[in-house]
Amino acid sequence: MILTPVLTDLWDAPRSWTRATYEEHDGYQGLRQALAMEPDAVIAAVKESGLRGRGGAGFPTGMKWSFIPQGGTAPHYLVVNADESEPGTCKDIPLMLGNPHALVEGMVIASYAIRARHSFVYIRGEVAHVIRRVQNAVRQAYEAGYLGRDILGSGYDLDITVHIGAGAYICGEETALLDSLEGFRGQPRLRPPFPAVAGLYASPTVVNNVESIASVPAIIRRGPDWFRSMGTEKSAGHTIYSLSGHVARPGQYEAPLGVTLRQLLELAGGVREGHELKFWTPGGSSTPILTTEHLDVPLDYEGVAAVGSMLGTKALQIFDETTCVVRAVARWSQFYRHESCGKCTPCREGTYWYVKIFDRLESGEGTEEDLDTLLDMSENILGRAFCALGDGATSPVTSSLQYFRDEYVAHLTHGGCPFDPVASTVFAGASA
Ligand SMILES: Cc1cc2nc3c(=O)[nH]c(=O)nc-3n(C[C@H](O)[C@H](O)[C@H](O)COP(=O)(O)O)c2cc1C
Ligand code: SF4
Repeated sequence: MILTPVLTDLWDAPRSWTRATYEEHDGYQGLRQALAMEPDAVIAAVKESGLRGRGGAGFPTGMKWSFIPQGGTAPHYLVVNADESEPGTCKDIPLMLGNPHALVEGMVIASYAIRARHSFVYIRGEVAHVIRRVQNAVRQAYEAGYLGRDILGSGYDLDITVHIGAGAYICGEETALLDSLEGFRGQPRLRPPFPAVAGLYASPTVVNNVESIASVPAIIRRGPDWFRSMGTEKSAGHTIYSLSGHVARPGQYEAPLGVTLRQLLELAGGVREGHELKFWTPGGSSTPILTTEHLDVPLDYEGVAAVGSMLGTKALQIFDETTCVVRAVARWSQFYRHESCGKCTPCREGTYWYVKIFDRLESGEGTEEDLDTLLDMSENILGRAFCALGDGATSPVTSSLQYFRDEYVAHLTHGGCPFDPVASTVFAGASA
């Protein structure tokens, strides 16, 4: 199995973030090719490539672009989602840091395709260094005539606004993001209407993830067949897998979709020395956890769904046997309680009570009934919450109970956490 560096290819080049370095590596050639094509032909090429959204749900990117109604008088907008706040997810921030021009070039191509004249990138507020890199790349693109009026003599005009968020996970949900961008409190909108019809300022809008858009220049330059030659039939192309946690060499591994965790761990030097894998997330904390029995599951949209989880953002968080699964899930639940926007009852109340129950389990006051209550509550949140944040909050709870119920029960019999990470013993004294 080999890596397929495309998005990550430049990251170790000297001053990889500058326009000069990017241009030395075919940067902005895709834009030149796109501007020589009809906008609809650009959409068709992206459709044909099989590119699916890298923000979590895997929606086909070209199809999303084709939903923008043409011929009306309302302006069209492209909005890039760079909020990246899911625990474990950490690919867009290094991408913007290492090669911000791939994003800028992708934004110009995508905006041209959907006939937008103003495009936004909404960046998580905490990452000041990344914001500066993207602002600088946008400035350099204006200076070179890749942005502004009459781009490269094509007659096409585009402006990009870099918008800085205020650090809320919910603002990554695309409709909450649009509200936040308009200056309101970021809370999800009722759908329909979908953003393609009434998005930013009630106008047709495409919202795409950073990696989705940054993948576009190479697709235009090298062709849809090249992209399809990687990955699987339904999950085409290369993508960035982020390995974090108890792994020897954590980092970003760009590989074809369908690679397995076993293969990625080999590249990453395995689980840290002297330890073994206990559980992992395939795509951030909102995707149900998996275990050692899933090491050979193809990490594509279909493969991960077939074992009851989701590919999500391909954020592979690795936990070895020194981790108490109840502690990990308790911590994630605190995150969801804190980030719940409060708009709907199942999520607002559910995440609050999750934390209460986990507090009880950890302090030795839990009961068998609490475990059933956790499952019952999860059933009442999943599919009944207003947006996917609520659904995501249930994933670690239900999946950990599915695979590690004995560890929860040990918290009851032991009167609190029985875990001894120093001795690497899962249930040291659990029966005491
Ligand atoms: C709570 C929540 C947070 C999200 N955060 C992000 C994010 O930071 N970046 C992102 O691209 N998508 C995020 N999404 C998914 C977006 O709503 C949307 O599906 C995505 O931006 C679409 O882009 P894509 O089609 O290119 O994947 C989030 C969804 C939810 C429910
Ligand atoms: S599910 Fe949670 S985050 Fe989403 S709208 Fe409801 S309260 Fe807000």
